[in-house]
Amino acid sequence: MKTSIATQAIVAFLANHVDALGWTNVSEVPLYGLSPPVYPTPQGSGSTSPAWAAAYGKAEAFVAQLTLEEKMNVTRGYTGTCVGNSGSVPRLGFKGLCFEDAPSGIRGPDFVSAFPAGSHLAATWDKDYMYQYGKALGEEYYGKGVNVALGPVGGPLGRVTRGGRGWEGPGPDPYIAGIQMGEIVTGTQDAGVIACSKHWLLNEQEYRRLPSALGESLSSNADDVTIHELYAWPFMNALRAGTAAIMCSYQRTNNSYGCQNSKLLNGILKTEFGFEGFVVSDWDAQQSGVATANAGLDIVMPDGGYWGNNLTQAVNNGSVSIDRLDDMVTRQLAAFYFLGQNESYPKANIYSALVQHPVLDVRGDHDKIIREIGAAGHILVKNVNNSLPLKAPRHVSVFGYDAEVKANPWTNPARFGGGYEVNFGWQTFNGTMITAGGSGSNTPPYVISPFKAIQDRVIADRGTMRWDFFSVDPTVEASTDVCLVFINAYASESFDRLSLSDEFSDNLVNNVASNCANTVVVLHTAGPRVVDAWIEHENITAVIYGGLPGQESGHSLVDVLYGDVTPSGKLVHTIAKQDSDYGNVLNSSVSFDAFPQSNFTEGVYIDYKYFDRENIEPRFEFGFGLSYTTFEYSNLAISQSAASTAAYPSANVSVVQGGHPELWEVLFNVSATITNTGSVAGAEVAQLYLGIPNAPIRQLRGFEKALIPVNGSATVTFELTRRDLSIWDVVAQKWLLQGGVDYPVYVGASSRDLRLNGTISI
Ligand SMILES: *[C@@H]1O[C@H](CO)[C@@H](O)[C@H](O)[C@H]1NC(C)=O
Ligand SMILES: *[C@@H]1O[C@H](CO)[C@@H](O)[C@H](O)[C@H]1NC(C)=O
Ligand SMILES: *[C@@H]1O[C@H](CO)[C@@H](O)[C@H](O)[C@H]1NC(C)=O
Ligand SMILES: *[C@@H]1O[C@H](CO)[C@@H](O)[C@H](O)[C@H]1NC(C)=O
Ligand SMILES: *[C@@H]1O[C@H](CO)[C@@H](O)[C@H](O)[C@H]1NC(C)=O
Ligand SMILES: *[C@@H]1O[C@H](CO)[C@@H](O)[C@H](O)[C@H]1NC(C)=O
Ligand SMILES: *[C@@H]1O[C@H](CO)[C@@H](O)[C@H](O)[C@H]1NC(C)=O
Ligand SMILES: *[C@@H]1O[C@H](CO)[C@@H](O)[C@H](O)[C@H]1NC(C)=O
Ligand SMILES: *[C@@H]1O[C@H](CO)[C@@H](O)[C@H](O)[C@H]1NC(C)=O
Ligand SMILES: *[C@@H]1O[C@H](CO)[C@@H](O)[C@H](O)[C@H]1NC(C)=O
Ligand SMILES: *[C@@H]1O[C@H](CO)[C@@H](O)[C@H](O)[C@H]1NC(C)=O
Ligand SMILES: *[C@@H]1O[C@H](CO)[C@@H](O)[C@H](O)[C@H]1NC(C)=O
Repeated sequence: MKTSIATQAIVAFLANHVDALGWTNVSEVPLYGLSPPVYPTPQGSGSTSPAWAAAYGKAEAFVAQLTLEEKMNVTRGYTGTCVGNSGSVPRLGFKGLCFEDAPSGIRGPDFVSAFPAGSHLAATWDKDYMYQYGKALGEEYYGKGVNVALGPVGGPLGRVTRGGRGWEGPGPDPYIAGIQMGEIVTGTQDAGVIACSKHWLLNEQEYRRLPSALGESLSSNADDVTIHELYAWPFMNALRAGTAAIMCSYQRTNNSYGCQNSKLLNGILKTEFGFEGFVVSDWDAQQSGVATANAGLDIVMPDGGYWGNNLTQAVNNGSVSIDRLDDMVTRQLAAFYFLGQNESYPKANIYSALVQHPVLDVRGDHDKIIREIGAAGHILVKNVNNSLPLKAPRHVSVFGYDAEVKANPWTNPARFGGGYEVNFGWQTFNGTMITAGGSGSNTPPYVISPFKAIQDRVIADRGTMRWDFFSVDPTVEASTDVCLVFINAYASESFDRLSLSDEFSDNLVNNVASNCANTVVVLHTAGPRVVDAWIEHENITAVIYGGLPGQESGHSLVDVLYGDVTPSGKLVHTIAKQDSDYGNVLNSSVSFDAFPQSNFTEGVYIDYKYFDRENIEPRFEFGFGLSYTTFEYSNLAISQSAASTAAYPSANVSVVQGGHPELWEVLFNVSATITNTGSVAGAEVAQLYLGIPNAPIRQLRGFEKALIPVNGSATVTFELTRRDLSIWDVVAQKWLLQGGVDYPVYVGASSRDLRLNGTISI
């Protein structure tokens, strides 16, 4: 029996809006906006590129041989050695796919590396590092036989300043987030592994992200412009780079769950952005059977969820078409062939360290790149009278709980943020922080603590060390040359932060500073951490945001502290003077309603765009970071390419994965000269901000990092694409390039240190 398309559409429409838990009455749901129905799911065809076409050819031939039972089987998860295992087809030798966390290192097994977190990588502002990171990570996934790496992260983007997971990704600016997602996808997939870009979409807080005894999950209600210009933007880069998988999110959008929101999945992702790969649910994110199938979900994890035999039944009774089921399977197999995974791919080899097993070391020489990225992501924000770099001090004092790995059972390496229990345990048992908590954490093979690396250096300098990791008011010896104070700010999946600072740590810093005329503070933080309790203290001579640097933490820090590496990291968040300066998006949205709503009324105005609009002076602005040298900017030049500047991209051009191909055409090149005017070699991150009419006064639209010798110069060139210059036109449902208006262009060292300006006219 088959129901008509019209009936299916109505059933699906209702299911999309009244999430099928049985006790919802649609007329009582306080709706912000209905999520518009978009059906049916476009069938993946490989039409967007020859590589996808070849993959689809193989996938379609494979799927043609499957029984209904076998098709259903590969759309679901099974318990196995990986965190996710899709069903297999033993009859035809398809083993199913192995899925593993996390975006900064494989979480769980031994002999894997702990890379810096996504936010730390972003703080390097270095596209080459972003690619190399994806490549090295991909090599480890490949080595362990993992088909699908659950990363990169571009959502949460970081709307909520105190959000628990913002640190996993590049932070609240969509441009840098897009570059990073694209580079990591390219690197990971160059290593042969399917990148699963996540979380699609608007999963911006932890509180009530899942249904609970209180009611449904939070509904993120964002308008179409905000979705396009802010939250979906970075995913366009991931798609353009070829991401072969996307993970749908836990929370609701316009009251429709993330994995059954047809507008987001069928509409924006699979139609507008031309996605050819598969959509996998976040773990246990599926909230209905027929509705998820028809809205565009392709694989449910970690088990059968609402599918399994129910999906076979739904196909038999016509609520889900056989074409849809074929499409789910074809998309999965196409991704598998797209990455060449049927050619001698290593067998999945994921063991818990608790079980005896052969050694499989996949780390290669990744410790080198981890150390380099670690150093490049350290951000120097205060440095009075060149107190850094350290000049072989002989008497060094180290203070604070964050300096050393603690001699405590909770903090052995397997548990560095490695499980949810630790997320709470860390509060009392914390040691040095190299990553934060939840499924985005990793499993370091060892940890180079700041204390270890500093001590090694002091030994080499024939010095003396004093330390106290516990006291809030440690004794400072009068003859000490420098006091290094280590504090941190933790965050994790599953809860949001309640504060951007803590009293113990602030008291510790102030107490040391009041007794030590050369106090250097290092903060390891998951997200923004305010510092106004002590930043202006006259004895605090230097401050470094150390981020979440991964296993080589201490080495990376010492490289910067002693000047072997000139600091070049820059902030990817605004650091406010006080928490409340972040406004309505400081806290996650708290509600005890059965249908909690979070209205994204601020639109695209988060982080520096909000501070700029409200004219709030930050402590340290987005893009800020000091160096041991100085740079001068000159010679701004703007040139136009031959590409069309028509208001909209051409009609009658098929989309590619990532959207309309003309969105990626370069319309203008902007270049500038940067000269190193100081006394040491160093890298500078030059940033381009654009004033697009009818949008925030300045938006990041380019960055280039150049390593420049003393007295040397470098020319940096920024490519501005059609998308970079456009706004989203809701009525036309197209990206609009506004003509007859001027676009101010700024090039500088941060979002508020704008050294050069010019104008683009279209
Ligand atoms: C749903 O709510 C509306 C408005 O409160 C009410 O009129 C209707 O009877 C309710 N329907 C059900 C099935 O409870
Ligand atoms: C969200 O917006 C809707 C529609 O404007 C409004 O009715 C509702 O009160 C808002 N909810 C919150 C929590 O602000
Ligand atoms: C959510 O609702 C807003 C307001 O009606 C609309 O602009 C937007 O496109 C909707 N988005 C989705 C994914 O439903
Ligand atoms: C479905 O997948 C499971 C797990 O891989 C496998 O054991 C089972 O044989 C598969 N079923 C069929 C019908 O192929
Ligand atoms: C993979 O390749 C082998 C050898 O060419 C072939 O026998 C097998 O059917 C292929 N498996 C799939 C899933 O395509
Ligand atoms: C089928 O659906 C029911 C609820 O509708 C659920 O309890 C069951 O677990 C589902 N899954 C399978 C594999 O049958
Ligand atoms: C078809 O089967 C599915 C899965 O068991 C079920 O949820 C749905 O209500 C059925 N639809 C009809 C029209 O029988
Ligand atoms: C920095 O140097 C200036 C000039 O030598 C001096 O007046 C000032 O006290 C120094 N500041 C600190 C914090 O050492
Ligand atoms: C680390 O421990 C200190 C001292 O017990 C505590 O004040 C601080 O809040 C902890 N930090 C985190 C991030 O849990
Ligand atoms: C944020 O939440 C805290 C409670 O954790 C509350 O005291 C504070 O007023 C809230 N601030 C804003 C700006 O919403
Ligand atoms: C700075 O350090 C010196 C030396 O320990 C101390 O005498 C002085 O009081 C400190 N200054 C402040 C403002 O605490
Ligand atoms: C642009 O640069 C000129 C100097 O070249 C400066 O006078 C002017 O204030 C700048 N304009 C803006 C808007 O920054």
